[in-house]
Amino acid sequence: MAGRRILLTGGAGYIGSHTFLALAEAGHDVVILDNFVNARRSVVDRLAQIVGRPVEAIDADVRDAEALEAAFRKGGFEAVVHFAALKAVSESVEKPLDYFDVNIGGLMTLLRVMEAHDCRRLVFSSSATVYGVPDETPTPETADFRAMNPYGHTKIMGEQILNWLSASDPRWAIGALRYFNPAGAHGSAMIGEDPRDIPNNLFPFIAKVATGELSRIRVFGNDYDTPDGTGVRDYIHVEDLARGHALSLDKLFESGEGHLVNLGTGRGYSVLEVIAAYKRASNRDLPFDIVDRRPGDVPIYVASAGKAAEVLGFRTERTLDEMCASSWAWISGPHSEGTE
Ligand code: NAD
Ligand code: UD1
Repeated sequence: MAGRRILLTGGAGYIGSHTFLALAEAGHDVVILDNFVNARRSVVDRLAQIVGRPVEAIDADVRDAEALEAAFRKGGFEAVVHFAALKAVSESVEKPLDYFDVNIGGLMTLLRVMEAHDCRRLVFSSSATVYGVPDETPTPETADFRAMNPYGHTKIMGEQILNWLSASDPRWAIGALRYFNPAGAHGSAMIGEDPRDIPNNLFPFIAKVATGELSRIRVFGNDYDTPDGTGVRDYIHVEDLARGHALSLDKLFESGEGHLVNLGTGRGYSVLEVIAAYKRASNRDLPFDIVDRRPGDVPIYVASAGKAAEVLGFRTERTLDEMCASSWAWISGPHSEGTE
């Protein structure tokens, strides 16, 4: 398919930066808009190094209508992939207004400007978290919405706003992608997940224990109704996830219609299985303690992956071992924060 001019809000972040590369590889002309609240500016230079040409990045807040207006006036965008959001669950419980402001206010501002510029193709970052504690695993897209915290609620609201918008005007074509648990890093080891504080999520936490930056992993509960008692998740390699965005955009352009799909592998791994895999990849000792369950945690999240295969032709290609190996190559290499 011919290259399109595409705006990536939050394009300097973890998933956004990998998606930038997937879209560039697919021949698109991609511009990043990010306020760098959770990304480092050096990511843009790294992306430029990888693709071998300058990368256009606009330093702006997605809630800033004037800045978006200016970007669109100059940009001539045919589609937007909207990653920009706040994503820490516990922080969202403490500061719900910040989450509604950025995740909903930002989406609203973006949609208004898109509409004014006749740009009605959008890929939206949603999450498995919209299912809350699902009744069914693997979980199909038809499962009910269940908000567990303000963050999750912003993703549900985002999808609902987009549904009403598509229903109001058939010119809108929107792909809502419900990500399961992204993990791993780009094969170049030049970009990856790089949390500034102590990570909340399992993969970056294990990575920092492997480097010695943190001393022990805390396993949140081993009394769940799962094979080894620890939480089970559907980890998806971030490069597979990034490719899902390229397929979603292709589909929007080809069909002119929207879609809603899970992006996962359809296979779950327990916390202990992930620790074992990371140990193999890093050849480091990874000491852990079993501690209390984390409040608000879900025992099992595994995607029903059939709809993404059917609608987008999306199938994951990379294994848990490849997620661990690429994460380790990134975190132990010269480009991550801890070593730079
Ligand atoms: P990230 O924090 O690495 O990326 C988000 C990017 O958005 C960052 O670069 C940040 O600087 C930017 N940003 C935040 N607020 C902004 C604002 N007001 N204006 C402009 N830019 C802003 O997170 P990520 O893991 O790459 O997640 C990307 C998207 O995917 C988010 O919408 C997130 O909610 C969603 N998501 C992530 C996961 C996950 O596990 N990482 C799972 C499901 C869904
Ligand atoms: C968390 C969020 C979810 C969000 C997702 C991606 C919560 C309750 N949920 O999901 O809304 O969409 O991140 O950003 O925060 N674990 C440990 N020790 C750790 C960290 C995690 O044992 O130090 C366990 C968890 O209990 C879970 C698994 O590892 O069983 C994965 O946890 P995590 O990486 O935080 O992802 P989610 O809980 O799926």
